[in-house]
Amino acid sequence: MKKLISIAAAGVLLLGLAGCATDSAAPGGDSDAGPKALDELVVGFAQVGAESGWRTANTKDIQSAFADAGIELKFSDAQQKQENQIKAIRSYIQQGVDYIAFSPVVETGWDAVLNEAKAAGIPVVLTDRAVDSQDESLYVSFLGSDFILEGEKAGQWLLDEYADTSEPVNIVQLEGTTGAAPAIDRAEGFAEKIAENDNFQVIASQTGDFTRAGGKQVMEAFLKSNPDIDVVYAHNDDMGLGAIEAIEAAGLTPGEDIKIITVDAVKDGMQALADGKINFIVECSPLLGDQLVDIIKTLNDGGTVEKRIVTEETTFTQEQAIEALPDRQY
Ligand code: AHR
Repeated sequence: MKKLISIAAAGVLLLGLAGCATDSAAPGGDSDAGPKALDELVVGFAQVGAESGWRTANTKDIQSAFADAGIELKFSDAQQKQENQIKAIRSYIQQGVDYIAFSPVVETGWDAVLNEAKAAGIPVVLTDRAVDSQDESLYVSFLGSDFILEGEKAGQWLLDEYADTSEPVNIVQLEGTTGAAPAIDRAEGFAEKIAENDNFQVIASQTGDFTRAGGKQVMEAFLKSNPDIDVVYAHNDDMGLGAIEAIEAAGLTPGEDIKIITVDAVKDGMQALADGKINFIVECSPLLGDQLVDIIKTLNDGGTVEKRIVTEETTFTQEQAIEALPDRQY
């Protein structure tokens, strides 16, 4: 009996090891070489840009997590252009880095370069934003928020806020970068939720490219052509902060004359919420550095990682923002 159990255990162990070897070799990786010392590892990270407070916090967090772990990080800023990100990824492939991580500026158009990484045996990790591809073998894991859920949370707040109103509620939407996962999904989640109340109508929707200047400019145009705006739904804090400037310049009081909902919860957004200029914020955490380092370490050790790792997030009202602000790091 004992012999049978040990044969079975050895079989399970072998199967496990075989599984690890296959997984660490997919899409690339030299599984025979064993783990590298952390100070020998090189990771290439292709960042979207520096468009928002969220992005700055995300960059800082990733850079410091890799520095703390003693892993070399090659970093590039694509200035919100897909062609720059593709160039950066190709350059990482040429340099023969061990892993590539990136936050895709838009969802589509990645298959060619990801196939090149796969052919070179370099595993790719997606952080923050997803790619829209039929071939899931092109990346090992996607670490980031559930943007549809974020949009639903924003819509739910509005449903609750206007639960007793029978008047029409005019909403304008400041969209993120066209084609980017958070812009697509936050719009979708929000639209699905607000469809539960016939009084809600989105009277205008346009991209502000996730920037403060973009949010301000689009809001100025919205205010000129729509005299009765009740609510602004901005896909990030920065665009909401830009909208506040436009609303104040038009002689209106943000948070009172026009209610504002945003996504992110960076310090400036939280301050505006505490000051009553924003009414509700859905959190999107930029602190992905430690989790990304853990993924790289696991892969380096020949282990497997979850295909989808969802970031834990909350929401903030004015009272909650006042309480959280003193400890807010970003
Ligand atoms: O992909 C995350 C989004 O990108 C953040 O909400 C936004 O601020 C950033 O630019």
